[in-house]
Amino acid sequence: MKLFLDTANLDDIRAAAKLGVIHGVTTNPTLISREKGDLSAIIREIASLVDGPVFAEVIAQNAEGMIREGRELASIDKAVCVKIPMTEAGLTAVSALSKEGIPVCCTLVFSAAQALLASNAGARYVAPFIGRFDDIGYDGIEAVASIAEVLSDGEFGTEVVAASVRSPLHAVEAARAGADIATVPPKALFQMIRHPLTDAGLAKFMKDWADSGREA
Ligand code: G3P
Repeated sequence: MKLFLDTANLDDIRAAAKLGVIHGVTTNPTLISREKGDLSAIIREIASLVDGPVFAEVIAQNAEGMIREGRELASIDKAVCVKIPMTEAGLTAVSALSKEGIPVCCTLVFSAAQALLASNAGARYVAPFIGRFDDIGYDGIEAVASIAEVLSDGEFGTEVVAASVRSPLHAVEAARAGADIATVPPKALFQMIRHPLTDAGLAKFMKDWADSGREA
């Protein structure tokens, strides 16, 4: 499973990019709203920092506006993948933009039925939000598994991007559930690095080395 970074914060993207584990970046209106500056400039800068797709979401709620904004977003950089919400108008926009060769992620997908529609409309990705299920007492990982299952025939090559990842465990469970990608916020990504046994083991190596009288 590939890892993407879920943020629009350029400093966080620079820090994560150094690890060499990030294969794309996802943004959305909430993540963009936390940053200052012009949307196009932010997206263009993100595209310069990572190898891989940069997801940027439309704001319009009607199909014509989504299509117009999707074309505008796609024109910012060749790395841009347009995010379109899973609505009736959204499906029309997914279909139109996909036919123009513009990569689209259908977002806010919460059911296998929605994922099937998005895939048939030409979405390159579908994004189920794990954390949002957990917020209302449902099992987000189960939803990812169900969506991955119905898309597993590869009929349209649509990939599952597990989103709203709130912890390292979410990322691991998304992989187990069959997600193609997990988009992970910076905090959870850096939490994935740490393990107490790694820390303890390294400390012991360094102590034994020092105790042997060798230079650090
Ligand atoms: O990728 C979607 C993500 O940014 C939403 O996360 O934690 O607000 O559900 P959250």
